[in-house]
Amino acid sequence: MKKFAVLKTAVPGPASLALSKRKMAAMPNGAISNVPVFIKKADNFLLTDVDENVFIDFGAGIGVMNVGHSNPKVVEAISTQAQKFTHTCFHMAMYEPYIRLTEKLNQLTPGDSPKKTYLVNSGAEANENAIKVARRYTGKSAIIAFEHAFHGRTLLGLTLTGKASPYRDGFGPMAPEIYHLPSPYKSNSRFTQYPEKPMFDAHFISEQLKTVVPESEVAAFIIEPVLGEGGIMPFDKSYLEALFEFAKPRGILIIADEIQTGWGRTGTLFAMEHFGYEPDILVTAKSIAGGMPLSAVVGKAEIMDCVQPGGIGSTYSGNPVACAAALASIDFIIENELPERALEIGKLTREKLASLPDEYEKVADVRGIGAMNGVEFVEDKQSLKPATAIAKKVQQACWEKGLILLKSGSHSHVLRMLPPLTITDDGLNEGLDILIAAVKHVLEG
Ligand SMILES: Cc1ncc(COP(=O)(O)O)c(C=O)c1O
Repeated sequence: MKKFAVLKTAVPGPASLALSKRKMAAMPNGAISNVPVFIKKADNFLLTDVDENVFIDFGAGIGVMNVGHSNPKVVEAISTQAQKFTHTCFHMAMYEPYIRLTEKLNQLTPGDSPKKTYLVNSGAEANENAIKVARRYTGKSAIIAFEHAFHGRTLLGLTLTGKASPYRDGFGPMAPEIYHLPSPYKSNSRFTQYPEKPMFDAHFISEQLKTVVPESEVAAFIIEPVLGEGGIMPFDKSYLEALFEFAKPRGILIIADEIQTGWGRTGTLFAMEHFGYEPDILVTAKSIAGGMPLSAVVGKAEIMDCVQPGGIGSTYSGNPVACAAALASIDFIIENELPERALEIGKLTREKLASLPDEYEKVADVRGIGAMNGVEFVEDKQSLKPATAIAKKVQQACWEKGLILLKSGSHSHVLRMLPPLTITDDGLNEGLDILIAAVKHVLEG
């Protein structure tokens, strides 16, 4: 069978090494790359580097390329719009694609409430806007986020993020009035916060908040329905039910950060559909626009309308080229039933990797939902001590054999798989074979 991953040099090759040298000289140390290669071409689930090495991509630009790299429909939409105009600033002179996209988002996001949408540029910026709207609407200031969740790297974003290192190191003071509760996520890992699961209900949440912040001051909870950066773990459904039960009568909003989980990744268009709940505000970015920088804050109309004219805005928000890319991407996702494809990808992935935890003491878990999957490495199953160095070695062994994949954050012990949802079964199988061989190579020596 034809192989997709084809390596012409050792990885990184000489051309990538030369560019890395220039990067070191020109860029600050804090801006790292997980994989030491430079890409010159990308096609569906394949990346070609400057040394002509071809890699299978299980990262999709951190969950951005659900529709596949250089998707022809998206490229065509981008170039058609770029030939008309690339920018007016929507707050200066408006254009129709922005409106069409917001109409689509109002219609496609979970729940039957009338909705309104505002576009911005990045995930973190969209989360910031969601917090602004929640505070303005409720007249309250405290925001409750969850440990291990990731919400971005702007100052408010990294304050919301429930992982201190490396995101917050040295950047304090953090933004005020942001609090964290333990993560109600389940797995075999050390992150399990409730080993003996208590009864989750409104009373439980109320008790939790007693040592954190007065509940009368809480404007919103922000949740990540499946932890991506935090190690691929779905939010506990009964805790989510308790959260809604607690929040509704108290006028507290629920914000769902669907930046990574959106657009079919978990097997439904949005992950909140698995839970059957409509958030008050949903934040989306990443795969919304096939690689163009765009994000959106979608909320119940009454909530979104609370902001005074001019209270939200930005020069590039809802850029027309990004809107055109988003409209084409969304049509592609729906027409090609990519959420259903994510379920198949997930099934194949987990079946193929299922034996790893039985075979290896240092593989604690293979888990995921739809096409959002992870392999967790530990020192041993007794201590469940995170084995970050092993995850890193396996990641390196993968790229040396032609597979690019991520960790759940640069300091994580979980390898994360977010392939384009357009990957073929053959491409997926070849990538998984490389991963299995890399685990064997690292753990058997
Ligand atoms: C769940 C989640 N929220 C927020 C962000 C931040 O998005 P951005 O990097 O576009 O600011 C990310 C990025 O990885 C994410 O996965």
